[in-house]
Amino acid sequence: DKKLIIAIDGHSSCGKSTVAKDLAKKINYTYIDSGAMYRVVTLFAMRNALINNEKVDENKLSHLIDQVSISFQYNDEKQRHETFLNGELVEDEIRSLDVSNNVSLIAKIKFVREKMVAFQRELSKGGGVIMDGRDIGTVVFPNAELKIFMTADVEVRAIRRYKELKDKGEEISLDDIRENVKKRDFIDENRDESPLRKAEDAIVLNNSKLSKEEQLDWIVERMNEVV
Ligand code: C5P
Repeated sequence: DKKLIIAIDGHSSCGKSTVAKDLAKKINYTYIDSGAMYRVVTLFAMRNALINNEKVDENKLSHLIDQVSISFQYNDEKQRHETFLNGELVEDEIRSLDVSNNVSLIAKIKFVREKMVAFQRELSKGGGVIMDGRDIGTVVFPNAELKIFMTADVEVRAIRRYKELKDKGEEISLDDIRENVKKRDFIDENRDESPLRKAEDAIVLNNSKLSKEEQLDWIVERMNEVV
């Protein structure tokens, strides 16, 4: 079997990673979460007080970024993918609303993106990879065999994210989540560096009304069309 690269891009909180993880398991591919990388750099910048009033101290970050080492590991016991910053487990912290509110500021910085893209390509050598993000089909892997652009109605996405954070015990309001989702989309779509947009050859998956199984089946059908 040919080992493909499957790129999944799209709006915030529309379930890209859920679908990508389920698919990876089903077809025995490696799942790579590119958003987690930007989240780790954001956490690092916050811990070093490099973000103030929605402004990032890019000069300091450029000097410190080589101290950031990102790694991933699958936790069998918890049955989840986990993210590490310099060996420290930061999986829950990078999903907090605090990090979500700052991540788009970090993700629009050119040198940050260059470093993340290089790492994403390095991890994908050999193929058999499903990667989700915002620029995977447009910038990271313009030649990916299969490109999917996912989206869903804002309200559907906000409610999904709200439930997710609520389940984790975070104290949040649906209004705050909705604002965050909209704001992130806006910044991601309007930045100069690798703005979020559908690659010309990507196929759109609007999952507002689809179950997880329906989404998986749909993608597997698309896969069978390209191999
Ligand atoms: O996918 P996730 O929502 O975790 O991504 C967090 C943020 O990281 C996005 O809102 C976006 O600003 C940024 N990102 C990006 N390019 C990617 C993946 C994520 O700019 N490939």
